[in-house]
Amino acid sequence: MRILGIETSCDDTGAAIYDSAKGLIVHRLASQVDLHRQYGGVVPELAARDHIRTLMPLVDNILHSSENEGKKMDAVAYTAGPGLSGALLVGASVGKSLAYSWRIPAVAVHHMEGHLLAPMLEENPPPFPFIALLVSGGHTLLVDVEKEGCYQILGQSLDDAAGEAFDKTAKLLGLGYPGGPAISRIAQNGDPDRFHFPRPMVNRPGLDFSFSGLKTHVRTTAHALQPEGNLDDQTISDIALGFELAVVDTLGIKCSRALKQTGRKRLIIAGGVGANRRLRDHLRRITADIGAEAFYPRPEFCTDNGAMIAYAGYVRWKMMKSEKPETSMNQKQASFDVKPRWSLEDIQQGVDCQR
Ligand code: KG4
Ligand code: ZN
Repeated sequence: MRILGIETSCDDTGAAIYDSAKGLIVHRLASQVDLHRQYGGVVPELAARDHIRTLMPLVDNILHSSENEGKKMDAVAYTAGPGLSGALLVGASVGKSLAYSWRIPAVAVHHMEGHLLAPMLEENPPPFPFIALLVSGGHTLLVDVEKEGCYQILGQSLDDAAGEAFDKTAKLLGLGYPGGPAISRIAQNGDPDRFHFPRPMVNRPGLDFSFSGLKTHVRTTAHALQPEGNLDDQTISDIALGFELAVVDTLGIKCSRALKQTGRKRLIIAGGVGANRRLRDHLRRITADIGAEAFYPRPEFCTDNGAMIAYAGYVRWKMMKSEKPETSMNQKQASFDVKPRWSLEDIQQGVDCQR
């Protein structure tokens, strides 16, 4: 079966085609980074308007690509949440309308399940069960994954998500948006011994995270050095590295704690911050030290993309098949309901999980 995947939850317009027999056929991404950069962050209304402009040409492009060979789709998957409501509505209305006109099922996908399943698109996919560290702009989650559809949240951020902390810290250092790649780029020139920032919540039991105090600590440090904000380039690099090391170390401590507590032997890392080189190297080292293995999607499948939505849509479609999805337009299908706030644990309904 062939499934079209559509991603519009935030500031990337993504579209992809996944084939259950052949794997990923084609994927394309239109980033809105240049649009939002001048405002220092994502402007929701502009994001939605840009998805409207970009999505249909992008879908048209992959459907008529040489890779797709003119093949018809068997289902359409779209991100239904969590995310920005206006942005989500664009993908939902296009996805549902295409499915209706082609008389095929429309599959609503949870954005974080997309991230969680992204490593399955790689050559060496992790076998179930595993622990997933999902680190994006809006979420930091540690999830025990028993099998497809069975997700137990072990820990999460109580305030800023890891990506959000990168973005806010970059902003206060004058590094612009998006903050994660900017911080890790400039941190390469940093001195690792100049600043040692706190590792939040590592001395308390449990697997929750809190990054807002770390961000405040960086602000206080920067202000104490230069109240006017004119930090020299070397100091900015040193602070950026101190911050990056604190986040990476904190995530590492929680991941090894989660592996030890659950006895799981595999860790997957996904979501935008999962593209961070220092984090990938560190987690590979600490999993090896405790006899576990780390898996990641390629960096372009860590950040938002249509491929992960097509794949997660295929997984959901397999679950829906037993429920015989309707392909004629009923009242539920006719509504473009999206879920800007939506817990990953809520999509477990109907799946036979062991716990
Ligand atoms: O998953 P994602 O693309 O979008 C959301 O679902 O939020 O994640 C975006 C986040 C942003 O906060 C961005 O700064 C961060 O991922 N990010 C990174 C890197 N690349 C993207 N953070 C650290 N290092 C990176 N290389
Ligand atoms: Zn995301």
